[in-house]
Amino acid sequence: MNHFHEQRGALWAEGVALCRIADEVGTPTYVYSRATLERHLGVVREAFASVPTVICYSVKANSTLAVLSLFAKGGAGFDIVSGGELARVLKAGGDAKKVVFSGVGKREDEMVAALRAGILMFNVESAEELALLDRVGRGLGVRAPFSLRVNPDVDAKTHRYIATGLKTSKFGVPFEEAVALYRASRRMKGLTAVGVDCHIGSQLTDARPVKEAITRVGGLYAELKAQGFPLTHLDVGGGLGVTYSSEKPPGVAAYARAVLSATKTLGATLVLEPGRVLVANAGVLLTRVLFRKQTPAKRFVIVDAGMNDLLRPALYEAHHDIVAVKPRRGAKATVEIVGPVCESSDVLGHARSLAPLQGGDLLAVKTAGAYGMSMASTYNSRQRPAEVLVDGDDYRVVRKREALEDLWRGETP
Ligand code: LLP
Repeated sequence: MNHFHEQRGALWAEGVALCRIADEVGTPTYVYSRATLERHLGVVREAFASVPTVICYSVKANSTLAVLSLFAKGGAGFDIVSGGELARVLKAGGDAKKVVFSGVGKREDEMVAALRAGILMFNVESAEELALLDRVGRGLGVRAPFSLRVNPDVDAKTHRYIATGLKTSKFGVPFEEAVALYRASRRMKGLTAVGVDCHIGSQLTDARPVKEAITRVGGLYAELKAQGFPLTHLDVGGGLGVTYSSEKPPGVAAYARAVLSATKTLGATLVLEPGRVLVANAGVLLTRVLFRKQTPAKRFVIVDAGMNDLLRPALYEAHHDIVAVKPRRGAKATVEIVGPVCESSDVLGHARSLAPLQGGDLLAVKTAGAYGMSMASTYNSRQRPAEVLVDGDDYRVVRKREALEDLWRGETP
């Protein structure tokens, strides 16, 4: 459910016509709907209302300050993977006590910053990382709260680039080694074990692997508690998928039922790390048609947004629906929607059947709120898009389009 809809032959975000935003702000521009973002957070909160839960929004999905600030005001915590994300969360008014720090390669300075900020816990992914965190904790005279991210060796059945729960993955510590590491941590004065963590992948469309993984780590949680570890938190990761085209992911309620049934006897506070499901369909990328080009083989529509603005199609062959903001009448044709970047993989939409398009027409690339702007780059020295947050009948620019000078900030000729 989202708040983008058709009205009088054109596409609107809540009470604002997307044509108006494009005219006033230019293109390419990411447009987010505040009502949709708030609704999604509310749905997750509701689904887990029966147990103590910390919803740690996964910042990497969309790290724009306005989005973080909205979720912070909604009571969310945050799942971060870098000192940069921590700084963004704090800048946006997030509560450090609800922050979990994930990722396989945390640096010492990032650990220090997170400990000073007083985060909820570190999700540790290797024995060497655990040893460093112990040293950093002792150096600061504190005990760093940690969970081990355990690799449950479960096939999440998603794109191989975003599956993380298999034995062959770089993520997490092998399930069989976890107990020994927890035991070893008892002798480390800079650490305190507070939970167990797992995350098996992203864009999950089947609740079964989730349940299987959580059942395994839940078993580990219970075993450790029986051994006297004073654990309080079970972090079940994120990963719930959304519909880009024909996928049928479980709804939040069904996902919650799967998680809750696998954890109900543990008495743990649940930590959730949802990213995509909160933001994906709350955002579209607005782009304008520059040219049309007919070759003997194909019909191209060249638009002003490219793979630097939205990387997912080029990187994962991901599908995003693309629609005309004001569709013209006429027979549909099959076209390639391509960007201006000098790469053959710069295709936003392959073989799309669309009504006639002309230079100047506006298109909306849908379900672009997650891993869109946060993965944007300045490749080809293109300024990254502006971002707009729509709120009812009004909107505000929450990130200005980059200026040319931003492209070489910090450089010396
Ligand atoms: N927690 C951890 C430890 C993660 O690694 C991730 C995502 C999440 C939570 C959030 O997952 P979500 O709920 O958003 O599925 N760039 C890719 C997705 C990469 C996901 C990386 N980790 C894409 O555009 O599909």
